[in-house]
Amino acid sequence: MSTLMDADTIARNRAMNYFASHERLWLFGYGSLIYKVDFPFLQRRPAIIRGWARRFWQGSHDHRGTPAAPGRVVTLVESAGAVCQGMAFEITPAVFEHLDHREKNGYLRVVVDAEFEGGAREEALVYIAGPDNPAYLGPASEVEIAAQIDRAVGPSGPNREYLLHLADALRDLGAEDAHVFELERAVRRQGNRALFR
Ligand code: SIN
Repeated sequence: MSTLMDADTIARNRAMNYFASHERLWLFGYGSLIYKVDFPFLQRRPAIIRGWARRFWQGSHDHRGTPAAPGRVVTLVESAGAVCQGMAFEITPAVFEHLDHREKNGYLRVVVDAEFEGGAREEALVYIAGPDNPAYLGPASEVEIAAQIDRAVGPSGPNREYLLHLADALRDLGAEDAHVFELERAVRRQGNRALFR
């Protein structure tokens, strides 16, 4: 069996039944789940989680790249004092089947505390791809990450589209994210240079 198949987390996520008895629960989205909402939800609200930083450290072999030339997508990395801004969606457990399939390349369901404007807090589920999953790529310089994003294309489209949509969505939320905005600038610079090649 290939290591990529080992990255398939559907079975492990199905066995995670923390929210199974809940009629509704909060899902915290911090990457494509913010801007590509292809699942039903009851309401959505901007939210933050503390102690996690958004990083383009996860490989994408299935959506924004291929097994031979993976792209890079975001995951969360534990980081004391960090604040990750995203969007919380109230969903029903019926939506897990779709989400587990969509996030199957290394992401596991994790329970975190989400904080809403005004300070109210709720437990929320978040999909995180940890350093022990086979698709994990880990840190690299922003120049290298931007170059890889600029090259990669997968069944869901060009990797740069994922980055640019995410940067736009974060701007709409009024979010701060030096890592994402630096990558956005680098990819746009590379795109401008490509016009003159
Ligand atoms: C998320 O958006 O919350 C998870 C990562 C992704 O699907 O891009």
